[in-house]
Amino acid sequence: MRILEVKDYETLSEEAAKIIAAQITLKPNCVLGLATGTSPIGTYDKLVEWCAEGKLDFSEVTTVNLDEYKGLDHEHNQSYWYFMHKYLFDRVNIRKDAVHVPDGFNPNEEEACKAYDEVIKSVGGIDLQLLGIGPDGHIGFNEPDDCFHLNTHCVDLTESTITANSRLFNSIDEVPTKAYTMGIGTIMSAKRILLIANGENKKEILKQAIYGKVTPSIPASILQMHADVTIITDQKISD
Ligand code: GLP
Repeated sequence: MRILEVKDYETLSEEAAKIIAAQITLKPNCVLGLATGTSPIGTYDKLVEWCAEGKLDFSEVTTVNLDEYKGLDHEHNQSYWYFMHKYLFDRVNIRKDAVHVPDGFNPNEEEACKAYDEVIKSVGGIDLQLLGIGPDGHIGFNEPDDCFHLNTHCVDLTESTITANSRLFNSIDEVPTKAYTMGIGTIMSAKRILLIANGENKKEILKQAIYGKVTPSIPASILQMHADVTIITDQKISD
Protein backbone atom coordinates (compact mmCIF):
# COMPACT_ATOMS: atom_id res chain seq x y z
CA MET A 1 0.00 0.00 0.00
CA ARG A 2 1.36 3.40 -0.97
CA ILE A 3 0.20 6.33 1.16
CA LEU A 4 0.64 9.88 -0.06
CA GLU A 5 0.02 12.57 2.51
CA VAL A 6 -0.38 15.84 0.68
CA LYS A 7 -0.81 19.38 1.90
CA ASP A 8 -4.29 20.19 0.65
CA TYR A 9 -7.29 19.20 -1.43
CA GLU A 10 -5.92 20.87 -4.56
CA THR A 11 -2.74 18.76 -4.42
CA LEU A 12 -4.72 15.62 -3.63
CA SER A 13 -6.90 16.22 -6.69
CA GLU A 14 -3.93 16.82 -8.95
CA GLU A 15 -2.04 13.73 -7.73
CA ALA A 16 -5.13 11.54 -8.14
CA ALA A 17 -5.77 12.92 -11.61
CA LYS A 18 -2.15 12.23 -12.57
CA ILE A 19 -2.56 8.55 -11.68
CA ILE A 20 -5.78 8.30 -13.71
CA ALA A 21 -4.18 10.17 -16.60
CA ALA A 22 -1.17 7.83 -16.49
CA GLN A 23 -3.51 4.85 -16.66
CA ILE A 24 -5.26 6.29 -19.72
CA THR A 25 -1.94 7.12 -21.37
CA LEU A 26 -0.51 3.65 -20.78
CA LYS A 27 -3.69 1.89 -21.87
CA PRO A 28 -5.99 4.17 -23.90
CA ASN A 29 -8.77 1.57 -23.95
CA CYS A 30 -8.66 0.98 -20.20
CA VAL A 31 -11.64 0.38 -17.91
CA LEU A 32 -11.92 2.91 -15.11
CA GLY A 33 -14.02 2.22 -12.04
CA LEU A 34 -15.33 5.60 -10.92
CA ALA A 35 -16.70 7.10 -7.73
CA THR A 36 -19.06 9.88 -6.74
CA GLY A 37 -19.18 12.05 -3.62
CA THR A 38 -17.60 15.43 -3.12
CA SER A 39 -14.04 14.02 -2.80
CA PRO A 40 -13.46 13.25 -6.52
CA ILE A 41 -14.87 16.53 -7.88
CA GLY A 42 -11.42 18.21 -7.91
CA THR A 43 -9.89 15.15 -9.56
CA TYR A 44 -12.52 15.20 -12.30
CA ASP A 45 -11.96 18.95 -12.80
CA LYS A 46 -8.27 18.28 -13.45
CA LEU A 47 -9.02 15.50 -15.93
CA VAL A 48 -11.47 17.80 -17.74
CA GLU A 49 -8.83 20.53 -17.87
CA TRP A 50 -6.18 18.23 -19.34
CA CYS A 51 -8.65 16.82 -21.83
CA ALA A 52 -9.58 20.35 -22.99
CA GLU A 53 -5.88 21.10 -23.40
CA GLY A 54 -5.50 18.03 -25.59
CA LYS A 55 -3.25 16.25 -23.10
CA LEU A 56 -5.71 13.46 -22.40
CA ASP A 57 -7.99 11.44 -24.65
CA PHE A 58 -11.04 9.60 -23.31
CA SER A 59 -12.25 8.36 -26.70
CA GLU A 60 -11.35 4.72 -26.04
CA VAL A 61 -11.97 4.68 -22.28
CA THR A 62 -14.79 2.64 -20.70
CA THR A 63 -16.13 3.37 -17.23
CA VAL A 64 -18.11 1.50 -14.60
CA ASN A 65 -19.36 3.42 -11.60
CA LEU A 66 -19.46 2.03 -8.12
CA ASP A 67 -23.02 2.64 -7.12
CA GLU A 68 -26.38 4.35 -7.51
CA TYR A 69 -29.28 5.22 -5.23
CA LYS A 70 -32.26 2.92 -5.67
CA GLY A 71 -35.30 4.84 -6.86
CA LEU A 72 -33.62 7.83 -8.51
CA ASP A 73 -33.81 8.22 -12.27
CA HIS A 74 -31.13 9.75 -14.47
CA GLU A 75 -32.63 13.23 -14.37
CA HIS A 76 -32.70 13.44 -10.59
CA ASN A 77 -30.00 15.91 -9.64
CA GLN A 78 -28.76 13.69 -6.81
CA SER A 79 -28.55 10.52 -8.88
CA TYR A 80 -25.03 9.34 -9.49
CA TRP A 81 -25.80 9.13 -13.20
CA TYR A 82 -26.52 12.86 -13.15
CA PHE A 83 -23.44 13.58 -11.02
CA MET A 84 -21.07 11.72 -13.33
CA HIS A 85 -22.40 13.46 -16.43
CA LYS A 86 -22.27 16.85 -14.77
CA TYR A 87 -18.72 16.54 -13.42
CA LEU A 88 -17.03 14.34 -16.01
CA PHE A 89 -18.79 12.58 -18.87
CA ASP A 90 -20.39 15.66 -20.47
CA ARG A 91 -17.06 17.53 -20.26
CA VAL A 92 -14.66 15.04 -21.86
CA ASN A 93 -14.62 13.17 -25.16
CA ILE A 94 -15.86 9.86 -23.74
CA ARG A 95 -18.32 7.78 -25.80
CA LYS A 96 -21.77 7.93 -24.23
CA ASP A 97 -22.23 4.18 -24.68
CA ALA A 98 -18.97 3.50 -22.82
CA VAL A 99 -20.17 4.78 -19.45
CA HIS A 100 -21.99 2.53 -17.01
CA VAL A 101 -23.81 3.21 -13.75
CA PRO A 102 -26.10 0.72 -11.96
CA ASP A 103 -29.73 1.23 -12.96
CA GLY A 104 -31.18 2.85 -9.84
CA PHE A 105 -34.58 3.11 -11.44
CA ASN A 106 -35.00 -0.63 -11.82
CA PRO A 107 -37.17 -1.65 -8.83
CA ASN A 108 -36.29 -5.31 -9.32
CA GLU A 109 -33.22 -5.64 -7.08
CA GLU A 110 -32.13 -9.05 -8.25
CA GLU A 111 -32.43 -8.12 -11.90
CA ALA A 112 -30.66 -4.75 -11.49
CA CYS A 113 -27.71 -6.31 -9.63
CA LYS A 114 -27.36 -9.23 -12.04
CA ALA A 115 -27.47 -6.88 -15.02
CA TYR A 116 -24.71 -4.72 -13.55
CA ASP A 117 -22.48 -7.71 -12.85
CA GLU A 118 -22.97 -8.70 -16.50
CA VAL A 119 -21.88 -5.22 -17.57
CA ILE A 120 -18.73 -5.42 -15.45
CA LYS A 121 -17.98 -8.85 -16.86
CA SER A 122 -18.60 -7.71 -20.43
CA VAL A 123 -16.10 -4.85 -20.19
CA GLY A 124 -13.43 -7.30 -19.04
CA GLY A 125 -12.86 -6.14 -15.46
CA ILE A 126 -11.48 -2.92 -14.02
CA ASP A 127 -7.96 -1.62 -14.62
CA LEU A 128 -8.08 1.21 -12.09
CA GLN A 129 -10.73 1.72 -9.44
CA LEU A 130 -11.14 5.15 -7.86
CA LEU A 131 -12.66 5.16 -4.36
CA GLY A 132 -13.73 7.65 -1.74
CA ILE A 133 -14.48 6.57 1.82
CA GLY A 134 -17.64 7.14 3.82
CA PRO A 135 -17.52 8.38 7.43
CA ASP A 136 -18.39 4.83 8.56
CA GLY A 137 -15.66 3.28 6.39
CA HIS A 138 -17.90 2.35 3.48
CA ILE A 139 -16.53 2.05 -0.04
CA GLY A 140 -19.01 2.41 -2.88
CA PHE A 141 -22.12 1.77 -0.82
CA ASN A 142 -20.69 -1.32 0.88
CA GLU A 143 -21.84 -0.48 4.37
CA PRO A 144 -20.44 -1.95 7.62
CA ASP A 145 -21.75 -5.51 7.89
CA ASP A 146 -20.79 -8.89 9.29
CA CYS A 147 -19.50 -10.16 5.96
CA PHE A 148 -17.95 -8.79 2.78
CA HIS A 149 -20.30 -8.96 -0.20
CA LEU A 150 -18.73 -10.19 -3.40
CA ASN A 151 -20.96 -8.93 -6.18
CA THR A 152 -23.36 -6.11 -6.94
CA HIS A 153 -26.09 -6.05 -4.32
CA CYS A 154 -28.82 -3.87 -2.90
CA VAL A 155 -28.01 -2.30 0.46
CA ASP A 156 -29.97 -0.59 3.19
CA LEU A 157 -28.06 2.62 3.79
CA THR A 158 -26.96 3.19 7.38
CA GLU A 159 -28.17 6.14 9.40
CA SER A 160 -24.64 7.54 9.30
CA THR A 161 -24.62 7.49 5.49
CA ILE A 162 -28.13 8.90 5.17
CA THR A 163 -27.22 11.72 7.54
CA ALA A 164 -23.88 12.39 5.82
CA ASN A 165 -25.43 12.45 2.35
CA SER A 166 -28.49 14.48 3.40
CA ARG A 167 -26.38 17.64 3.03
CA LEU A 168 -26.83 17.30 -0.72
CA PHE A 169 -30.64 16.88 -0.64
CA ASN A 170 -33.34 19.43 0.28
CA SER A 171 -34.19 17.42 3.38
CA ILE A 172 -33.15 14.15 5.03
CA ASP A 173 -36.54 12.62 4.09
CA GLU A 174 -35.59 12.85 0.43
CA VAL A 175 -32.45 10.71 0.81
CA PRO A 176 -33.11 7.23 -0.60
CA THR A 177 -32.79 4.49 2.00
CA LYS A 178 -31.45 1.89 -0.43
CA ALA A 179 -28.76 1.72 -3.08
CA TYR A 180 -27.22 -0.66 -5.58
CA THR A 181 -23.49 -1.08 -5.16
CA MET A 182 -20.65 -2.94 -6.77
CA GLY A 183 -19.49 -5.66 -4.38
CA ILE A 184 -16.24 -5.83 -2.45
CA GLY A 185 -15.21 -8.83 -4.55
CA THR A 186 -15.46 -6.76 -7.73
CA ILE A 187 -13.60 -3.82 -6.19
CA MET A 188 -10.84 -6.16 -5.01
CA SER A 189 -10.58 -7.66 -8.51
CA ALA A 190 -9.56 -4.29 -9.94
CA LYS A 191 -5.92 -4.38 -11.00
CA ARG A 192 -5.19 -1.12 -9.21
CA ILE A 193 -7.03 0.86 -6.58
CA LEU A 194 -6.77 4.57 -5.81
CA LEU A 195 -8.52 5.86 -2.68
CA ILE A 196 -8.80 9.55 -1.93
CA ALA A 197 -9.83 10.97 1.43
CA ASN A 198 -9.85 14.62 2.36
CA GLY A 199 -10.88 16.51 5.44
CA GLU A 200 -10.47 16.09 9.17
CA ASN A 201 -13.69 14.04 9.38
CA LYS A 202 -12.08 11.22 7.35
CA LYS A 203 -8.86 11.06 9.37
CA GLU A 204 -9.85 8.58 12.11
CA ILE A 205 -11.77 6.19 9.88
CA LEU A 206 -8.93 6.19 7.36
CA LYS A 207 -6.41 5.37 10.08
CA GLN A 208 -8.58 2.51 11.30
CA ALA A 209 -9.06 1.19 7.77
CA ILE A 210 -5.34 1.23 7.01
CA TYR A 211 -3.77 0.30 10.34
CA GLY A 212 -6.58 -1.53 12.16
CA LYS A 213 -7.75 -5.08 11.66
CA VAL A 214 -9.39 -6.21 8.45
CA THR A 215 -13.09 -6.44 9.22
CA PRO A 216 -16.39 -6.08 7.34
CA SER A 217 -17.44 -3.62 10.04
CA ILE A 218 -14.97 -1.23 8.34
CA PRO A 219 -15.39 -2.21 4.68
CA ALA A 220 -12.41 -0.14 3.48
CA SER A 221 -10.08 -2.24 5.70
CA ILE A 222 -10.22 -5.01 3.05
CA LEU A 223 -7.96 -2.83 0.91
CA GLN A 224 -5.04 -3.91 3.11
CA MET A 225 -5.30 -7.25 1.28
CA HIS A 226 -4.97 -5.76 -2.22
CA ALA A 227 -1.57 -5.80 -3.90
CA ASP A 228 -1.73 -2.41 -5.59
CA VAL A 229 -3.44 0.33 -3.59
CA THR A 230 -2.56 4.01 -3.49
CA ILE A 231 -4.13 6.22 -0.85
CA ILE A 232 -3.98 9.99 -1.14
CA THR A 233 -5.05 12.11 1.78
CA ASP A 234 -4.64 15.68 2.94
CA GLN A 235 -4.49 14.45 6.55
CA LYS A 236 -1.48 13.33 8.61
CA ILE A 237 -2.37 9.73 9.36
CA SER A 238 1.08 8.26 9.88
CA ASP A 239 1.89 9.86 13.22
C1 GLP B 1 -21.16 8.19 -0.97
C2 GLP B 1 -20.65 7.30 -2.08
C3 GLP B 1 -19.24 6.81 -1.80
C4 GLP B 1 -18.37 7.96 -1.38
C5 GLP B 1 -18.90 8.54 -0.11
C6 GLP B 1 -18.06 9.66 0.46
O1 GLP B 1 -21.77 7.50 0.06
N1 GLP B 1 -21.49 6.17 -2.30
O2 GLP B 1 -18.73 6.16 -2.96
O3 GLP B 1 -17.04 7.55 -1.22
O4 GLP B 1 -20.20 9.05 -0.39
O5 GLP B 1 -18.49 10.88 -0.05
P1 GLP B 1 -17.71 12.24 0.06
O6 GLP B 1 -16.61 12.14 -0.93
O7 GLP B 1 -18.73 13.26 -0.33
O8 GLP B 1 -17.27 12.36 1.45
